[in-house]
Amino acid sequence: MSARLSGKSVIISGAAHGIGAAQARLFAREGARLALFDIDGEGVAKLAAELVADGHRVVHTTADVVSEDDWIRVVALAEDELGGLHALSNNAGIFRPEGVEETTVELFNTITAINQLGVILGMKTAIPALRRAGGGSIVNFSSIYGLTGSGLATAYQGTKGAVRLITKTAAVQYAPEAIRVNSVHPTMIDTPLIRNGVPENELRRLLKLVPMQRIGQADEVAHAALFLLSDEASLITGAELAVDGGYTAGAPIPD
Ligand SMILES: NC(=O)c1ccc[n+]([C@@H]2O[C@H](COP(=O)([O-])OP(=O)(O)OC[C@H]3O[C@@H](n4cnc5c(N)ncnc54)[C@H](O)[C@@H]3O)[C@@H](O)[C@H]2O)c1
Repeated sequence: MSARLSGKSVIISGAAHGIGAAQARLFAREGARLALFDIDGEGVAKLAAELVADGHRVVHTTADVVSEDDWIRVVALAEDELGGLHALSNNAGIFRPEGVEETTVELFNTITAINQLGVILGMKTAIPALRRAGGGSIVNFSSIYGLTGSGLATAYQGTKGAVRLITKTAAVQYAPEAIRVNSVHPTMIDTPLIRNGVPENELRRLLKLVPMQRIGQADEVAHAALFLLSDEASLITGAELAVDGGYTAGAPIPD
């Protein structure tokens, strides 16, 4: 079987850790040329060096998803160094657990800028390059918390719900140009976001809500993004793909 991203160059935001890093490793194995960036420049440089040492074509930079200038620089890097741009994984995001009364204006603005504006800026700057390449595919990272309420994480849930519909409206807008836009909705995944953001006992309680009764692995989400970014998904746009162990299908019967 030929590599599933052969001939494609892909930008991944937030590539230094977690699901972004898992996508970088998987997409490289599937033949992609990669432009990786993260606010953690050291982390992304380390990952890029590992992939280059394994023979993959990878460029990287330090960049912040809330900066339009940074996005312009990243897209130019991909086009200049990798020979065009064919796909974008809008992956970077932060989690905060605060509920309604604990949500400060500062927290709201910070999380909305990274998780929501960052996704729009990624699409805004990548789409002209995808158009120049004759079409392309974008995956926007939402969450199970973009599909259903949880009783916590008010601002986070707001951003992830917004990403779901930002995705659908962009999908409709750009479908005539063969630019596909889909969203991915992971359950709790074993990454720094969860390990640093959710205490162990709370995580055990949350996992009881997942029909498959276990935490997910970053690689399991990376495979969903791989499918949507590849030509295998050539007729799929505006879709929401839950990678959630059954979480959004319904609650399991308690013990
Ligand atoms: N881990 C989960 O359980 C889970 C569940 C649902 C959705 N998600 C979503 O999946 C995506 C990836 O999450 P993860 O678990 O790998 O998180 P993570 O914290 O492990 O990694 C996120 C990466 O994004 C980078 N980043 C943060 N802010 C940035 C910014 N302003 N500019 C550029 N890079 C920035 C971080 O440095 C980090 O490398 C996020 O959008 C997250 O909301 C994760």
